[in-house]
Amino acid sequence: MSQRETWATRVGFIIAAVGSAVGLGNVWQFPFQTGANGGAAFIVVYLAAVFVIGFPAMLAEFVIGRRAERNPIDAFARLGHRDWRVVGAIGTISAFWILSFYSVVGGWVIRYIVGSATGAYFSGSEAYFGAISAGPEAIGLHALFMALTVGVVAFGVTDGIERSTKLMVPSIVVLLGGLAIWAATLDGGGAGYAYYLSPDIDTLVANIGSILPAAVGQAFFTLSLGMGAMLTYASYLGRDDSLPADGATIVVLNTFVGLLAGLVVFPILFSLGIDPGSGGLGAAFITLAGAFAQLPAGRLLGVVFFVVLLLAALSSAISLLEVVTAYLVDNTDRSRSTLAVGLGAAIFVLGVPSAFGLSILAWYNAIAYNLLLPLSVFCLLIFVGWVDAADAVTELRRGTGLSEGGATAWLWFVRTVVPLGVLVTLLLGLQSLAV
Ligand code: PFF
Ligand code: NA
Repeated sequence: MSQRETWATRVGFIIAAVGSAVGLGNVWQFPFQTGANGGAAFIVVYLAAVFVIGFPAMLAEFVIGRRAERNPIDAFARLGHRDWRVVGAIGTISAFWILSFYSVVGGWVIRYIVGSATGAYFSGSEAYFGAISAGPEAIGLHALFMALTVGVVAFGVTDGIERSTKLMVPSIVVLLGGLAIWAATLDGGGAGYAYYLSPDIDTLVANIGSILPAAVGQAFFTLSLGMGAMLTYASYLGRDDSLPADGATIVVLNTFVGLLAGLVVFPILFSLGIDPGSGGLGAAFITLAGAFAQLPAGRLLGVVFFVVLLLAALSSAISLLEVVTAYLVDNTDRSRSTLAVGLGAAIFVLGVPSAFGLSILAWYNAIAYNLLLPLSVFCLLIFVGWVDAADAVTELRRGTGLSEGGATAWLWFVRTVVPLGVLVTLLLGLQSLAV
């Protein structure tokens, strides 16, 4: 087997990880989930979940990945705990599973770029979504999105992922920033800022039972945790930079992009008097596209917005494919490109049912969101916190000025608060699967 790849630069790793984190979850799901959960009150809880629960959990994935220099499954064996490979397997299967329908949504996004340019959905946003989101066209676009993802991963860690995300991530920030400035000029958009940025404490208190699990779930999903993606990316570090510093940069940038997306979406919706509470998988497309149809320069606006969404989705999809590809690259002698193509084809097939109807896609999503993801994160936290604690703490401190006290504080978070938060979402999520 040839020498394992590493990132060319520290910034390359950070940008690739930001690319993984910034995705459909931030730009598409987050503003609408905020809308469905009462606006700014949700954001307060979400931010707390990201920094208190998500950040320590991300570091837990990093320490395993960097120390083991292996894919999620073999990482546990490499660290001397063969039985724990099953945890890596859950994460790897989750990546495979999630990419299958993430790619279907990616296909819709491609279609919406074209639809914006031609104004195809301007006369009927809902009918348009119905026509393109399910059926042969959706399958074809799903194939196209998967092909783009494979095209990046086939070129490898530095030449494929690092190089492409270095273009994609800055483009996302610049275009989204431009859209936010443009949105600020809309008449009547001010109410959107108020709704988005001034939390209503009564709403928060009254709905904490539903806001909390939604916020924690979203925090994990947006930070790409539980699918081995951050673990895998950290396994290519081969360097001793500070993991807490890199992790903090990634978390802050990801949060920034999510908030920026809200600064685009809310003024647009409020300027047209549209209710942002109409969340759900398809509603976001219908609502936003419906809004673009009513705005001056709506075609241009739509193209730019959906290009942002495509770049965000693609840079996340490649991290999911990389998880699975890494396992085979680490374990077989076949070329990376052959493996990426083969896996892409398999994931495409798994995703085809989701291209037949929104309810099937929602079911795939619910399995991932409510079961696979929290389960995998929970087990990983137990491993780092209780099984591998001493080595994990040493690894976290490597290349940092972090005191022993700081590292111990992290460890106790990983042992207590974080798994508890996951457990709550897991139980509430399972309950929602049962009904
Ligand atoms: N973080 C991505 C998003 O917010 O859309 C989704 C994601 C990508 C989750 C990669 C997990 C992952 F491994
Ligand atoms: Na992304």
